[in-house]
Amino acid sequence: MERTVKAMQRVLILGGTTQANALAVRLESDPQYDPILSLAGRTQAPVLPNVRHRIGGFGGVDGLIDYLRRHAVDVLIDATHPFAEQISAHAVAAARETGVPLAVLTRPAWAPQPGDRWREFPDVASAARALGAEPRRVFLTIGRQQIGDFEAAPQHDYLIRAIDPPAPPPNLPHQKLLLARGPFTFEDEVKLMRGARVEILVTKNSGGAATLAKLDAARTLGIEVFMINRPQSADVPTFETLDALLEFLETLRHRKAP
Ligand SMILES: NC(=O)c1ccc[n+]([C@@H]2O[C@H](COP(=O)([O-])OP(=O)(O)OC[C@H]3O[C@@H](n4cnc5c(N)ncnc54)[C@H](OP(=O)(O)O)[C@@H]3O)[C@@H](O)[C@H]2O)c1
Repeated sequence: MERTVKAMQRVLILGGTTQANALAVRLESDPQYDPILSLAGRTQAPVLPNVRHRIGGFGGVDGLIDYLRRHAVDVLIDATHPFAEQISAHAVAAARETGVPLAVLTRPAWAPQPGDRWREFPDVASAARALGAEPRRVFLTIGRQQIGDFEAAPQHDYLIRAIDPPAPPPNLPHQKLLLARGPFTFEDEVKLMRGARVEILVTKNSGGAATLAKLDAARTLGIEVFMINRPQSADVPTFETLDALLEFLETLRHRKAP
């Protein structure tokens, strides 16, 4: 049995997150790796590092399988947002079909701290229902794709923060749209929530530092947080730091040939 070390590993990174960009930059600077960063194309002006990239869907699982084969991808990394369920499921299916090793790079989930007033929900629709009959002032920081779920509760006053406007615009009689991209500071979050007299903050448990300040601000102001928990993930090797993932990639590179 012989040890084989391939000269250059082609790594397809399913991106859309800060972590994916950081991984792409790190691999690009290492001659042992040949990274390709893939974006869905959801954000109108994405932050793109100076790394080879492609933008747009693959065309379902079959399209991803085809891409992996045509581009002789050695390793697939799912570094998408923890709530991007569909592409993550496609990655699992495509890896299984092609035999290309798959790993997930993600951020640790946020956990409640003393003083927090969290209520946890399995999905956005159940959080929308739980707002109740009485009109409340609600701050939505869940991205733009599921804002429509709050049309079931039109009595509330919504402050919606997203990077791009929801399309189509939600049919909500009391709404204000704030277009902004993090990171956000604690001071600015306190000012915003206090100014808007927010009563409930709705957020996905994305984890990470860039948007953490809203939770600190909510705790300080005694605001209730409706936290959408992450979907169940498949049984795939998962890493929460770049270094841990790089170690895994190194192991794959030095894997014994059959
Ligand atoms: N959902 C969120 O809360 C959220 C929040 C922030 C950022 N994002 C980012 O926005 C992007 C799309 O999110 P989503 O919620 O639409 O995902 P999704 O529902 O899991 O994916 C929908 C479809 O978009 C395409 N797609 C998604 N990510 C892709 C990628 N990195 N490269 C190529 N195609 C991709 C795939 O199309 P095909 O089937 O045609 O391949 C996929 O089937 C991801 O990059 C994600 O990380 C999502």
